[in-house]
Amino acid sequence: MKLQGAEATVEIKEDKVIKERPRKNYRHPKLDQRIRKQRTNAELNNIRKALRNGINVPQTGQKNDYILEIQKIEGETLEENFRPEAMKQVGENVEKLHEAGLIHGDLTTKNIMFDGEKIYLIDFGLSKDSKKTEDHAVDLHLLKQILDSSHPEHFKQAWNNFLSSYTPEFQDKVLKRLEEIEERGRYK
Ligand SMILES: Nc1ncnc2c1ncn2[C@@H]1O[C@H](COP(=O)(O)OP(=O)(O)O)[C@@H](O)[C@H]1O
Ligand SMILES: [Mg+2]
Repeated sequence: MKLQGAEATVEIKEDKVIKERPRKNYRHPKLDQRIRKQRTNAELNNIRKALRNGINVPQTGQKNDYILEIQKIEGETLEENFRPEAMKQVGENVEKLHEAGLIHGDLTTKNIMFDGEKIYLIDFGLSKDSKKTEDHAVDLHLLKQILDSSHPEHFKQAWNNFLSSYTPEFQDKVLKRLEEIEERGRYK
């Protein structure tokens, strides 16, 4: 099965996942190569940094400048099969990610998988280094909006489960900022 994203194609094979950034013909070839290589490297580096910090992400290697070989998670995305009880683990992993100074950048239920036991954060294509409370809160803001719009019947329980694993220090800082972001959104 091959999935076509905005920037990459993802092929789900028997035992692995191949994520490739194909050529974009509207870009100058030299620039195109540089961008694809840089984004592929950035994704790999961020996945590895997450791994080193004990976050559940698939093992990932590099096939060439534009292709990552990713451990296949035998499960479903939370978008395909939403499991409110899995949100506690999501909270633990997202907090660890932020403590490690990384943001995910696209924290939707499409980018979280569950194998029946563990959750995995996938798709580090928009991930970057950041220790800023604002950036951490923006990660949470997107997730919260997706939960509210895509899984409204589970929203309350899911969000409570997500927050239940957060340490008080983190709750204080990030949740306060999240409230501010929500306020800004309301009055825009
Ligand atoms: N390691 C994996 N194991 C199983 N399925 C995966 C894995 N990585 C990605 N997928 C599936 O492919 C989809 C697209 O992959 P993703 O890395 O999110 O690419 P994109 O950047 O195009 O969103 C995911 O939403 C998921 O359904
Ligand atoms: Mg994705």
